[in-house]
Amino acid sequence: MTDMTNDAPGRLARPPFDPLTMLLHWAALLLVIGQFATAWSIDRVAPPMAVALLTVHRSAGVVLWTLMALRLVWRITGMRIPPPPSGMTRWHIAGVHMSEYGLYALLLVQPLTGMADTLFRGRAFNMFIWRVPAMLTRNRPYAGLAHTLHIYNAYLLAAAIAVHAIAALAHHFVLKDQVLVGMLPTGRRRSARSGRQTEIDPQPNS
Ligand code: HEM
Ligand code: HEM
Repeated sequence: MTDMTNDAPGRLARPPFDPLTMLLHWAALLLVIGQFATAWSIDRVAPPMAVALLTVHRSAGVVLWTLMALRLVWRITGMRIPPPPSGMTRWHIAGVHMSEYGLYALLLVQPLTGMADTLFRGRAFNMFIWRVPAMLTRNRPYAGLAHTLHIYNAYLLAAAIAVHAIAALAHHFVLKDQVLVGMLPTGRRRSARSGRQTEIDPQPNS
């Protein structure tokens, strides 16, 4: 098997992700938490507050969609993925990449189903600071379908993020490798101090 790991002869420890990737990654996490928090609260507060929360939910969802689209473009065109930790098989690496693209897919689909739900309700709605006029005639079955997809995709998304986060924490606390610190600003500082970055040739994107 070709050695695709970071500890091939002549190589030092795993380099961290670049600052833009880190910024986009953690900003997306904050937005996702906000989306679930607003969605959970909408049905539990009085109507004026629910309308305001739904406006925040829609607007932040559109921001999150844009952020994920930019992130995907960045991943495909400019981002350098650090070499995987030692001992990982090709299949494991392929699985990790597929699960990451799965997260992109779920997060790009989720706002679309929410938007479809909103549009098929056939009513004017608030988004950001604007009042958006109704664009489609009311279609209850389509709105219902979009709403169901929005809920199931949200469950899938929550499960996928949980697996992803648990895997990252397991790398850190059980396997004690550099996967988690590679996505943290502290990992960059540590790497810069030890001069590792210049000595590793990160894998081009795959
Ligand atoms: C990644 C982004 C998003 C996540 C994780 C998310 C998640 C959720 C969840 C979990 C619910 C609760 C479903 C329920 O129990 O009824 C919900 C409701 C809803 N979402 Fe989203 N959503 C996102 C983006 C959007 C966007 C961009 C829009 C519209 C532009 C939107 C529109 C709605 C609407 C209309 C509801 C129903 C609220 C109600 O009437 O109770 N969502 N969302
Ligand atoms: C507590 C929550 C999270 C933790 C601890 C975490 C941790 C990590 C770590 C350590 C990596 C680097 C993996 C590697 O070296 O190959 C990573 C990458 C990645 N994470 Fe997360 N993550 C979390 C939440 C999320 C969320 C909410 C998303 C979805 C928006 C996400 C999407 C990704 C993607 C797509 C990558 C691959 C790098 C990229 O394309 O930007 N993560 N994550």
